[in-house]
Amino acid sequence: MPRIVPADSVAIQEAAVVLRQGSLVAFPTETVYGLGACALNAASVRAIFEAKGRPATNPLIVHVLDLDDAARLVTEIPPHAAALARAFWPGPLTLVLPKRKEVPDEVTAGGSTVALRSPAHPIARALLKALGEPIAAPSANRSLEVSPTTAAHVAASLGDRISLILDGGPCQFGIESTVLDITGSTPVLLRPGSVSRAAIASVIGVEPISPQSHDGPLRSPGLLARHYAPHARVELVLQEQIGEARERLLQEGLQVGVLTTGTNPWDGAALPENPDGYAHNLYSALRDLDLRFNALIISLPGDGPAWEAVLNRLMRAASKE
Ligand code: TXA
Ligand code: MG
Repeated sequence: MPRIVPADSVAIQEAAVVLRQGSLVAFPTETVYGLGACALNAASVRAIFEAKGRPATNPLIVHVLDLDDAARLVTEIPPHAAALARAFWPGPLTLVLPKRKEVPDEVTAGGSTVALRSPAHPIARALLKALGEPIAAPSANRSLEVSPTTAAHVAASLGDRISLILDGGPCQFGIESTVLDITGSTPVLLRPGSVSRAAIASVIGVEPISPQSHDGPLRSPGLLARHYAPHARVELVLQEQIGEARERLLQEGLQVGVLTTGTNPWDGAALPENPDGYAHNLYSALRDLDLRFNALIISLPGDGPAWEAVLNRLMRAASKE
C-alpha cells in the first residue's frame, strides 16, 4: 500500500523531491484529492494515465500558483479569463486557454488548449511552491470511479499504483472544479462546479453556455456520461418515489441502499439539505454505500441553479452509458 503521511512541511518537501524525480504524489485540494506529476515532464504525465487507467484522449488540469504562472503556459490570457482568475483564484475554477508549445501534448491529449487552475488548499499551494513548477493533476482515482475526498479514498482507489499520499483531511468542497472553456467568443461551461454560472456571469457579464452535443465527447472527454460512477446500480428518483422504487429493486433480489436528505427511515445514508453540505459529503457517502449495497436509490435533493453541480454528478452516477 502507499505511504499516507500527514502533510507537514517535511512531508511536503519530500513530495516535491518525489515529483522532481518524475514520480507521482497524491495531494489534497479544496475540491478533491489530485494525483500530481510535474506538468512539464512528459514521462511523468504518462505515468498518471497509466496509474489511473485513463484514456490518453482525456486531457489533464494543470495546477499553478497564480495568474503569472498561468501566463507562462498559454499564448494569451483574454480579458474575460484574467477577470475570472482575479475573481475566483485561488479556488475551484478551471480555465481552458490556448497552450504554449512547452506544455507537453501528453497533458492536453494532443489538443491545442490547456486547462489551468490555481488551487486554494494550503497544502496544494505549499507543494506548488516547494516544487517551483506547475503540477498536472486529475482526481486521484481510477478512471471512471468516484473522485476521492479523503486520503483513505485515494489509497482504496489507487492502492499500490502510487507510493506517496499527502494527507490533509477531508476536502472542503467535495466535488471537482468548474471547468470553463474561455477560448471562444462565448465561454462554454464544460463542467459545472462550486463556482456557478451566475457567479461567472456576475464577473464577465455573460452567462456561459452549455456544450453542444454535436461538439462530441472530444470537446471535454470528462463529459462522458458515465463518470463519477459507483459500482452499484443507481436510480435517481423523486423523494415521493423512494418507497415504490425500493420495493421494486428488493423484489429483484438486490441489496438496496437509499441516499436522501434530512432524515432517512430506510437503510442507507442521509446528506445535508443545502447544496454545499450535500456536495461536501456526496462522494464519501457514495463510496460507503457502494461497499454495502449493489443498488442505490438516490432522491433528487433539490433543483435550481444552486444545485446544478450536484445534479450533474448524480445524473452521471445514474447514467448507464
Ligand atoms: O477539482 C478539480 O478539478 C480536480 C482537482 C484535483 O484539481 N481535478 C480534476 O481533474 O477533477 P480530472 O482530470 O478528474 O478532470 C478534469 C476535467 C476532465 O473533464 C477533462 O476532460 C477536462 O477537465 N479537461 C482538461 N483539459 C481540458 C482541455 N484542454 N479542454 C477541455 N477539457 C479539458
Ligand atoms: Mg476525475
